[in-house]
Amino acid sequence: MTTYAATYQRSQQDPGQFWLDAAQDIEWTVPPTVAIDESKAPMYSWFPGAELNVAANALDRHVAAGRGDQAALIYDSAVLGTVKTYSYKKLLSEVEKAAGALAELGVVKGDRVIIYMPMIPEALISMLACARLGAVHSVVFGGFAPKELAARIEDATPKVIVTATGGIEPARRVEYLPNVSQAIATSAHKVSYVVVKAREGFQHSPENIDQAGAQWIDYDAATQAAAPHAAVPVLATDPLYILYTSGTTGKPKGVVRDSGGYAVAMQWSMKNIYGVGTGETMFTASDVGWVVGHSYIVYAPLIAGATTVLYEGKPVGTPDAGAFWRVVAQHGAKVLFTAPTALRAIRKNDPHGEFIKSTPMPTLKALFAAGERLDPDTSRWIEDALAVPVIDNWWQTETGWPIASNPFGLEELPRKIGSPTFAVPGYDVRILDAFGEELTEPNTEGNIAIKLPMPPGTLATLWGGDERYKSSYLDAFPGYYATGDSGFKDDENYLFVMGRTDDVINVSGHRLSTGAMEQVVASHPAIAECAVIGVSDPLKGQRPSGYVVLKSGVDIAEEDLRKELIALVRQDIGPVADFKDVAVVAALPKTRSGKILRKTMRQIADGEEYVVPSTIEDASVIDDLLDVLRG
Ligand code: COA
Ligand code: AMP
Repeated sequence: MTTYAATYQRSQQDPGQFWLDAAQDIEWTVPPTVAIDESKAPMYSWFPGAELNVAANALDRHVAAGRGDQAALIYDSAVLGTVKTYSYKKLLSEVEKAAGALAELGVVKGDRVIIYMPMIPEALISMLACARLGAVHSVVFGGFAPKELAARIEDATPKVIVTATGGIEPARRVEYLPNVSQAIATSAHKVSYVVVKAREGFQHSPENIDQAGAQWIDYDAATQAAAPHAAVPVLATDPLYILYTSGTTGKPKGVVRDSGGYAVAMQWSMKNIYGVGTGETMFTASDVGWVVGHSYIVYAPLIAGATTVLYEGKPVGTPDAGAFWRVVAQHGAKVLFTAPTALRAIRKNDPHGEFIKSTPMPTLKALFAAGERLDPDTSRWIEDALAVPVIDNWWQTETGWPIASNPFGLEELPRKIGSPTFAVPGYDVRILDAFGEELTEPNTEGNIAIKLPMPPGTLATLWGGDERYKSSYLDAFPGYYATGDSGFKDDENYLFVMGRTDDVINVSGHRLSTGAMEQVVASHPAIAECAVIGVSDPLKGQRPSGYVVLKSGVDIAEEDLRKELIALVRQDIGPVADFKDVAVVAALPKTRSGKILRKTMRQIADGEEYVVPSTIEDASVIDDLLDVLRG
């Protein structure tokens, strides 16, 4: 039996003991004696009664162990051309002061703090400062528009927002304060304070914030003046953060992460999946606004006592397609973790891998990819070029860490291209048919579900409601968590994840809701009805494509309408939606009950085989659409 197989078996046979053993690698103020609380099944929680502080696990314990001078954080800004290294001692002191500053604003355990920041150290410091106080952070990705920020403010009801004056995109500077002031002015929930990290070259206007009804606090002044704050112990089951993600509806779902289970899962996964330990360096090229950033830029590397790289830049254009390799080489990263779309962008700009060839990277031992399916072509290309294992790992915001991966840290298993290998210990992954019956025949595609309970670190609930959590994930297949993905296992049990079963799409590794885009498009006065679908894109994986039917009597040039709709989606959801394709059509294909046949439309657009459901209201609508859909 392989080490993986034995470990997996142990995790299934006695999950309680398995995770209690793993919990020993975490420092607790009250150690756990019980692993799992099943009393409220199907809602499960981990390590009831135990207490810890997650930030203390990420910082204080490493300093106490004598590693205070080791690098904790390397901030590498390709857009500024600067590098700044924080030792564990220095990072701890910054976090203690930031926690003190938040405490002086009245933030206490359980309060929410929204963090809306670019990729600068203060983003990570603010997250850890919240964790130090037992406050619950909710990081909102900088590419979201004020309306999306306002929706999160209303749902999370924060006391404070921490932000910066701006972010730097390759082609433009993004002023954050107009977005923040608009969001707080329009939100029904009133935020008391906005803490602002001033960056050179951006607006610095407290009036904006004051006029919107909140008080401006300067980040630097407040943190310099603050008394260092001690770590506040919290229950393992207390929330560490809320991270909003897209579902099928326009209303984002606030995934709630617990404290103890997450700390254990982060530590375990660093060692057994990513194979990065104390003193080693991990470079995760994502954004702290996404789950990959939360787990593998911030929490896991620091809890493991490793060095994390916070990279402000893009895979290409800052300044070129060699940027990632420069960072790996310069900082001696053992592992690089990124999204397949970034690899495709690099390949497009450097098809023969010249930058890779000219950059010696002796420390690099593996490349991990997640966020979307790693297509076989890209996988082969990058593995040939880098000559290190390329490891696809499949997971989602809800789970917080990999559901399926080659367990590189534990042992490297033979890989099959297109597959994230096997279920990770702790996850019991099954393929179910539409009625919840298990499909045990190999190579049979179905809904991918995880038998409950899921392991520590996975979502505890949704913010604002266990009922929404249950109806979103647990009701479809009783006894299981429905991942929303479809796929199959082959005859050797390798898992293949093929795509979403709902209206969630993945654009450049960013998870977006076509439903939310449809809501925005439908709000345009010229539109009678619309459908937004995700069509395959060679660079971005998928791109949103809008098909609109005009109200009768409307006379508008298609190009003007396209521009207006693009601007509307940008304004209401944000540039990250990357909504650029619009086609005016005479009608949309529907079932007799009025449901738009989005899946059939997508299959036609992607050149796949398609079946027109027998319930279609008017089959000629599809025929009329063929040319438009096929582009
Ligand atoms: N703040 C403000 N705007 C942002 C932003 C941010 N943090 N991030 C992206 N945007 C904007 C971009 O400027 C762009 O705006 P534009 O339409 O005015 O040009 C738009 O959102 C789309 O950006 P992006 O998705 O980055 O596309 P791109 O064409 O600029 O770059 C890639 C393509 C592949 C290089 C880029 O998408 C990428 O690096 N993807 C990796 C994503 C990733 O790591 N995801 C994490 C999941 S693990
Ligand atoms: P997010 O919550 O933003 O991380 O997006 C999660 C979704 O991205 C999953 O439900 C999948 O649809 C997709 N995804 C993430 N990683 C992979 C992967 N390795 N292979 C296939 N799909 C993936």
